[in-house]
Amino acid sequence: MSKSSFESKTILVSGGAGFIGSALVRLMIGECSHNVVNVDKLTYAGNLDSLATVQMSPRYRFEQVDICDHDKIVELFRRYQPDGVIHLAAESHVDRSIDGPGAFLQTNVTGTFTLLEAARAHWAQLPAERRDQFRFHHVSTDEVYGSLGSEGSFSETSPYRPNSPYSASKAASDHLVRAWYHTYGLPVLVTNCSNNYGPYHFPEKLIPLTILNALEGKPLPVYGDGHQVRDWLFVDDHARALELIFRSGEPGEVYNIGGNAEQRNIDVVGMICDLLSELSPNPARRYHDLITFVTDRPGHDRRYAIDTTKIMQALGWTPTETFNSGLRKTVNWYLNNESWWRRVRDGSYQGQRLGLATSPAQLKEEY
Ligand SMILES: NC(=O)c1ccc[n+]([C@@H]2O[C@H](COP(=O)([O-])OP(=O)(O)OC[C@H]3O[C@@H](n4cnc5c(N)ncnc54)[C@H](O)[C@@H]3O)[C@@H](O)[C@H]2O)c1
Repeated sequence: MSKSSFESKTILVSGGAGFIGSALVRLMIGECSHNVVNVDKLTYAGNLDSLATVQMSPRYRFEQVDICDHDKIVELFRRYQPDGVIHLAAESHVDRSIDGPGAFLQTNVTGTFTLLEAARAHWAQLPAERRDQFRFHHVSTDEVYGSLGSEGSFSETSPYRPNSPYSASKAASDHLVRAWYHTYGLPVLVTNCSNNYGPYHFPEKLIPLTILNALEGKPLPVYGDGHQVRDWLFVDDHARALELIFRSGEPGEVYNIGGNAEQRNIDVVGMICDLLSELSPNPARRYHDLITFVTDRPGHDRRYAIDTTKIMQALGWTPTETFNSGLRKTVNWYLNNESWWRRVRDGSYQGQRLGLATSPAQLKEEY
């Protein structure tokens, strides 16, 4: 790997084959001069097809490693001598956390602990100047703050009130990262973002599932009354924010990242149907007729919203996409990249309902 400019850094990115991680790696290789070591276990959510445009770059390396594997992680730090870590690897789907919380505690809590300890040992032996500039950037979610009523938004000082096994595991990892800063002085950054959407999104999440089910004439499931409100962040806007915060954020600080794009779930599904009617009209089918209300998710948070004042004022970041422009780009991407999503859909996940936790006997714990 070459260091092509003064600005270039070697960054260990965990979870770089996932949805957000791959957007970040494409940005850092395609538009920045960083060297990237992508450390990913390749769970069902990891997909190297999403990195096809960067895989030949001399500034890119892929290592298939579990972040819970202490010895292998220590060896990667020794071999690549990174200038920092951007940690995205996680089990990330709330419905899966309801069916099998064990994997979430293992990767999100134990895996974060393992990375923190390996990073701390590496950081402690760096020469002073590199030690000062080292960063451990932990990527987390606004779901750690719990649910909002119809008013207000989450800020960096909102109390933690996680409601799902997923958000509880992310909250635990946020606390570990904070403690490694206060106890050991490891220069950490924490970002909590809202719901991401965009190209290369695994089709178990609302937006890609709705697009693909609609194209295949399948029901478009809407949980409960569909009035749950989410803030939507276009994934490439998020990747830009992560790279900026990694370079310019203040160690020990938390930054919330949002798209300033609150939408009710039912409206998101309706907008996708409108876009598909325009971009891929089907004379035999009205997409809106496929909308099907299904039993709500247990413990479903009602509303999330993000106050982005801090990142806008401190770092000058703003999202470039509105929800309308980002959703149009997303629908167009899925229409033009059938080979990507066909390979995902042909695998083990066929778009079935997850996360009902109907009876303990049905729970398939992973350990
Ligand atoms: N997607 C969102 O809307 C959203 C919102 C807020 C926060 N986040 C956070 O952002 C991060 C990335 O989310 P995403 O949507 O890209 O997730 P994703 O599920 O698409 O990707 C996760 C990646 O981590 C890898 N991984 C999982 N377990 C691993 C392990 N033990 N060791 C190494 N790699 C492992 C997977 O193979 C996959 O490539 C996560 O930490 C998530 O909590 C996501």
